[in-house]
Amino acid sequence: MTTSSKIQVMSATLLAIESSCDETSAAVIQDGKKVLSNVVASQVDIHKEYGGVVPEIASRMHVELIMPVVDKAFKDANIGKDDIQGIAVTHGPGLIGALMVGLSTAKALAFGIGVPLIGVNHLEAHMSAVHLENEVSFPFVGLVVSGGHTSLYLVRSYTEFELLGKTRDDAAGEAFDKAAKIMGLPYPGGIEIDKLAKEGNREAIDFPRPFMSSSTFDFSFSGLKTSVLYYLRKHSEPSEQELKDICASYQEAIVDTLVDKTLLAAKENKVANVVIAGGVACNSRLRELSKERLGKEGINVYIPSPKYCTDNAAMIGSLGGFMFLNGDISELSLTPFSTSRPKYGRGRGGEAKKAQSS
Ligand code: KG4
Ligand code: ZN
Repeated sequence: MTTSSKIQVMSATLLAIESSCDETSAAVIQDGKKVLSNVVASQVDIHKEYGGVVPEIASRMHVELIMPVVDKAFKDANIGKDDIQGIAVTHGPGLIGALMVGLSTAKALAFGIGVPLIGVNHLEAHMSAVHLENEVSFPFVGLVVSGGHTSLYLVRSYTEFELLGKTRDDAAGEAFDKAAKIMGLPYPGGIEIDKLAKEGNREAIDFPRPFMSSSTFDFSFSGLKTSVLYYLRKHSEPSEQELKDICASYQEAIVDTLVDKTLLAAKENKVANVVIAGGVACNSRLRELSKERLGKEGINVYIPSPKYCTDNAAMIGSLGGFMFLNGDISELSLTPFSTSRPKYGRGRGGEAKKAQSS
């Protein structure tokens, strides 16, 4: 458990570090909004060989990459270590070994330079990425769709997030990646499915839309993934066009569900703005359909640029900056966490109270 102390400050230039999965990233961010640098070293090409992220390899790669990435972040920002007022770092959720590398580095640097440490929640930071490019008024509904998580939040301020619902099994990104694997497509599958779907018929196959008719804000994607498996058992060796149709229909089922739930959450909470973030927010159909369907209801949709949707330290520096300005400073004894914290237990029907693996 982390304890924090309150110190109010007016302005902040922070170094931010992200290492929760397979991207080693460091950024320098001013006041939660201005990006002075954002360096991302992706390990995707290494993990591709194994069809997914191998945690042990990810940790070892972070060890190799972290200091060169931090040095480049300072260099690109054209500032020195003495010019920062604090260090923001992801402390969860994520792969424990991977988180440990970023967190230990941040602690050592904070101790050595003599500045405070700010422990940032990776999922909340995904939504904070929107502030790097847009002014969005509060409250807004935030949908975080990544490789490990699918969650809906009511965001009341720069630093107040209330969980409304989340996936009961697979995350949206996981549903993309696992189906892609079943179809023999390379990792990360979301990007491949998005590409192939562009030339497919999204009405070709009627894949299920779980929980669509119910009023819950929770999601479930594991059945959908299984339906692709069964479909391919019946239709083995699909033609190139059939594969594109499967991709388009499958993507439509995921996107339709995400947009439907987000619209429900926006209407029930009477918000005018919605933010969609996380790696899956790069999906071209999600970007298109969310703006179309929510726009019709008079709801503004904000989606960060793709470089701020996939894992990056700029988003950590954004939320870290707002926390710092709010006086939320962490102890150097801060520890990483792999699953969603109990404070997220405010979802409907008690389902969200269960811890979710990242
Ligand atoms: O947020 P992120 O970079 O890492 C996590 O925190 O998990 O998200 C990675 C996920 C992967 O599952 C990847 O397949 C998915 O984002 N993704 C996409 C697209 N680009 C990345 N999914 C669908 N369409 C895309 N264009
Ligand atoms: Zn992420």
